[in-house]
Amino acid sequence: MAVKHEHWSSRWAFMLAAVGSAVGLGNIWKFPYEAGSGGGGAFVLIYLFFIFVVGVPVMMAELSLGRRGQMSPIGSMKKIAAEEKRSPLWGLVGWGGVVGAFIVISFYSVIGGWTLAYVVKSAMGFAGMTAEQAGVEFGEFISDPFWPIICHAAFMAITILIVNKGVKGGLEKAVTYLMPALFVMLLILVIYAAVAGDFASAVEFLFYPDFSKVTPDVTINALGQAFFSLSLALGSIMTYGSYLSKDVHLGKSAFTIASADSAVALLAGLAIFPIVFAFNVDPAGGPGLVFVSLPIAFGEMPFGVVVGTLFFALLGVAAITSSISLLEPSVSYLEHSKGIDRKKATLWIGAAAFALGVLSAYSQGGNFLSDIRFFGLDIMGVKDYLTNNIIMPLGGMFTALFVGWFVSRKTMMEELALTDESFRIWYFLVRFIAPVAVTLVFISVTIGF
Ligand code: PHE
Repeated sequence: MAVKHEHWSSRWAFMLAAVGSAVGLGNIWKFPYEAGSGGGGAFVLIYLFFIFVVGVPVMMAELSLGRRGQMSPIGSMKKIAAEEKRSPLWGLVGWGGVVGAFIVISFYSVIGGWTLAYVVKSAMGFAGMTAEQAGVEFGEFISDPFWPIICHAAFMAITILIVNKGVKGGLEKAVTYLMPALFVMLLILVIYAAVAGDFASAVEFLFYPDFSKVTPDVTINALGQAFFSLSLALGSIMTYGSYLSKDVHLGKSAFTIASADSAVALLAGLAIFPIVFAFNVDPAGGPGLVFVSLPIAFGEMPFGVVVGTLFFALLGVAAITSSISLLEPSVSYLEHSKGIDRKKATLWIGAAAFALGVLSAYSQGGNFLSDIRFFGLDIMGVKDYLTNNIIMPLGGMFTALFVGWFVSRKTMMEELALTDESFRIWYFLVRFIAPVAVTLVFISVTIGF
């Protein structure tokens, strides 16, 4: 119980860690293929709407709850509920986050592993690779019984090592230079794609909304993707908030994190889709999209070996700075609420998530478990659906309801320290807009069935 609760060494360190958590595979691997299967522009528009109108206010809520609670998401939710004389059942919001983060890390690490493998593949060169060959190469890799598991293990091991070292020693150090480097790499790729790819089609695809493509499913995917990309509703941001000191302005921070996060997602889209259209890759091709489209470009461009290797290495780093924030909520729970040694907690949780992740790895391509389907989804798809489309939207909604209706206005004003005007806007968004938006999306999906 009496474990000392560490804090970030500066506001800058916190910002880097939070941006590190937000920017990850969600932006570069998931966003493009979700946008691709969601029909492009309309998905992007709805996604951005959810990021700024629902995501930012919920992020402010999570940061303030974490900072006020100074515990794991479960501990903080229970503690604040008690302070406000509300039901301890609010702790369930924390539980949803911790369990959700555990499910996500189990498959996130598998994709992280694919990224590591592609560092090596890029270093060996993709020269002259056609779209078809790129597809075959990826398909063979994920269908292999051995390598995806080794890479998944490597990715999880790195995550465990960093989380082991704690807030200052581990989390902070990893992010300082590597996030800006990734940003620069993405810019280079966008410039290359603009020159060598079909940039006009990509821009039209991403920014010209065709509202006939909007279905309830597209809408809930955009909502889940917005939460996922901002690392919301899984306890990660709340846990990072608990390592914050009082002098950090939560509103500005949330807005900056969301802007950086969306910028990276859009840049990823602008790097990938020009190649997708120039080489006739299927934009709705699903989780393999980045791994199939970019190697074609790396094979053709000057210095493709260098650019490709660096790109996947930095993507790997971005994934690690996110995966540590996915492991952190459960570790923080065991450490701060159960008094278990941090190192032990990290190892146990990491090992369990690895084991659960093996099932996801084997559900891909033509691998052992790829025939197991639930409602047409493979095992990885089920975990993604459960977290992205159910746990995260519900978690976000209950967080908004909690701060909007069950925590006193005074407490929230104190934590957020906004001007009256800004507070009123925030309050309106968490009390009405966020819960109503999520409810409407849920209703439309249910009726859509
Ligand atoms: N936001 C991360 C990404 O985009 C994933 C993540 C989700 C991390 C939820 C923490 C919590 O890759």
